[in-house]
Amino acid sequence: LLRTGLLAGGAGVGALAVSRLSDATSAPSRADEEPPPPAHPATMPFRGPRQAGVTDDPQPFAAFVGLDLPAGATKDTCRRLLRVWTDDIDRLMAAKAPLTDLEPELAEVPSRLSITLAVGPGFYDAAGLVPHRPSWLAPLPSFTIDRFDGHWPQTDVLLQIRADSPVAVAHAQRRLVVGAEPLAVQRWVQRGFREPLTSSRPGMPFRNLFGQVDGTVQPRTDGADDALVWLGADGAPAPHGLAGGTALIIRRIAMNLDTWDRADRVARENAVGRRLGSGAPLTGRLETDQPDLRAEDELGFPVIDPVSHMRRAMPAAPHERILRAPYSYDEAPTGRQRSNSGLVFVSYQADPLRQFLPIQRRLAEADLLNVWTTPISSGVYAVLPGALPGEDLGAALLA
Ligand code: HEM
Repeated sequence: LLRTGLLAGGAGVGALAVSRLSDATSAPSRADEEPPPPAHPATMPFRGPRQAGVTDDPQPFAAFVGLDLPAGATKDTCRRLLRVWTDDIDRLMAAKAPLTDLEPELAEVPSRLSITLAVGPGFYDAAGLVPHRPSWLAPLPSFTIDRFDGHWPQTDVLLQIRADSPVAVAHAQRRLVVGAEPLAVQRWVQRGFREPLTSSRPGMPFRNLFGQVDGTVQPRTDGADDALVWLGADGAPAPHGLAGGTALIIRRIAMNLDTWDRADRVARENAVGRRLGSGAPLTGRLETDQPDLRAEDELGFPVIDPVSHMRRAMPAAPHERILRAPYSYDEAPTGRQRSNSGLVFVSYQADPLRQFLPIQRRLAEADLLNVWTTPISSGVYAVLPGALPGEDLGAALLA
């Protein structure tokens, strides 16, 4: 069609439209036979000291897959698993089909696919590495707001798969899960999405299903805040085999859209301390304005509620900062449910105990958002360092 349009160029839009119409009824041209070039001809680099999918702008579609090692797994099982996956991930991220791919065409559409591999405490048990396990690689303490339903428990391994296309995510997920059996077995999948078009600016923020601009205040991802995210950055000591990795926390948080429907705009904005439209703090005009925590209204009440989500989540000490990359989920309601929606909350930080835990403690103690949100699962993982050319993921850990 493009070629026909170009040929008709100069004859005006009308002629182009006519040529498009007639083209549809005539014999296929060469242009019809050739696949059009991909809309987003992008791939993400796999090889390097750090894995992709952490400080990169989150792609719109994601699947988080929790897998367990089989009973009796050993260091050799772990090694073989990481060998298989390293090769598969290397190919998939380069938009090439893994060797055993039965639908290779699905792998060959570049869609900014990133696959990030992380391991849980059980991986250390199987690999005989318990003495090397970082102290933060353990379940978070339970909080009074938690209502875990057992569907998405901590697993031995986590695959984070993100891409511009849901097809690429689904295909990579299947290839990696099938390719791993019987070295690892899938326990659960959490799917999520974030619509970049509804964010106020390109990059990290998006709008969650409460309509809030989410992701405004973040550590910098241009290297300036590397020590907050990456293990071993700026010469800091890193746990055995994890320099170049990070800690990943994943919490599934149900958001009650039905009760949120009953809150008016004032209550909604007060709950976070920011405006719904612009994402600006209630004391400012622009999303990036600094909130003025001392500002009072005409009655002497603080403009930003002391128990608003933003106020409670703010760092109480400079190191209490985390990189958030949450995804919305919106599953089919079951039974009498009207909606089954929420956030696959994901954060990366070098030290969950120092950075994440104090924030989560404050939010559990008091946060207006808790009226509408309920954590229903939680997991902690160590994202492995990247794989250099010729190396397998986890090489340093399993050395
Ligand atoms: C900020 C929503 C859960 C940590 C925000 C903002 C929104 C939001 C709208 C303000 C804009 C921004 O800076 O991104 C939500 C929703 C949640 C949730 C809907 C659950 C369904 C959490 C959890 C944590 C967290 C579990 C960590 C334990 C933060 C932090 C900030 C923030 C650190 C930035 C605070 C600042 O320094 O201004 N969140 N959030 N949030 N949230 Fe959440």
